[in-house]
Amino acid sequence: MRKNKTIRNFWYNLSTNQKYIVRKIYYFPIDFIDKITGETNKYVPSRGSIYTGSPSGAAKFIKQGTHQLKLLTSFINLKSTDSVLDIGSGIGRTAIALTGYLNEKGNYNGFDVVKKGINWCNSKIAKDFPNFHFKYIPLFNDLYNTNIEKAEEFKFPYAEKQFDKVFSFSVFTHMQIKEISNYFAEIHKTLKPNGTCLSTFFLYDDENEDYIANRSQFNFPIKFNGYRLMNETVKSGNIAINKIALETMLNDQGLKIDRIIDGFWKDKVRDTSKIEYQDIVVFSKKNS
Ligand SMILES: C[S@@+](CC[C@H](N)C(=O)[O-])C[C@H]1O[C@@H](n2cnc3c(N)ncnc32)[C@H](O)[C@@H]1O
Repeated sequence: MRKNKTIRNFWYNLSTNQKYIVRKIYYFPIDFIDKITGETNKYVPSRGSIYTGSPSGAAKFIKQGTHQLKLLTSFINLKSTDSVLDIGSGIGRTAIALTGYLNEKGNYNGFDVVKKGINWCNSKIAKDFPNFHFKYIPLFNDLYNTNIEKAEEFKFPYAEKQFDKVFSFSVFTHMQIKEISNYFAEIHKTLKPNGTCLSTFFLYDDENEDYIANRSQFNFPIKFNGYRLMNETVKSGNIAINKIALETMLNDQGLKIDRIIDGFWKDKVRDTSKIEYQDIVVFSKKNS
């Protein structure tokens, strides 16, 4: 437990470039073995280049994307003809799965604040799938980059009411509260009147807040009004949001919660019937 906490703090304290270098060096031997054993996939980067979480081999990365697709079909009824927006598209984990699902009438747009990820997706996925588009947006995020432009002022570069479905996996867990509120306003603007959004969060409420705060790890020790952070310096390291506060934030931007599917990140004893680690929130426009 203590070891995990020390590793996490060590990781938070590295600069963005140091994180990329440490990851490359750490995974070099296993990436080498993957290469010689053929454990690779042309759409999946080497483990040392997967900057979006704990790097897995190609087969596991593809499986994780397939799982995300299953969540989208199960909870927001994703259709093969939908026009979709993937906020924080990372290194293409969800996009790869969607290439086998969206047909020529459907289309995918993804954006992210890390250039390496977007460059990879453009050179591998967009090249082979013309209805897939990835945009690099140079916005600041203290976990991922050293950009200057603020996400709290960013206007999504898409038309009003363009998307049937909007989603974000493990992105609102790495952003600041004002940024998330702004993204809710932008989701409201770009979603079709009957569109739906699925996003994952770390959510807590008055009942489980003390338990979460008092456990030895993943306890979000820095408390603010309505949210808690994992680290004071790297504010985007991880954020947990109070359920009522989230509801208010969505409501303020003309959105409403349709459903919450609790994840197992906060279980005392893991409930194996739960489908996802983070909490899933399905939301839509209030007047739809
Ligand atoms: C944990 S990764 C998840 C990536 C991807 N959604 C997936 O499931 O593989 C979080 C991603 O959010 C992106 N991100 C952070 N702040 C962002 C922002 N303001 N706008 C868009 N993406 C952002 C990061 O660059 C990173 O790619």
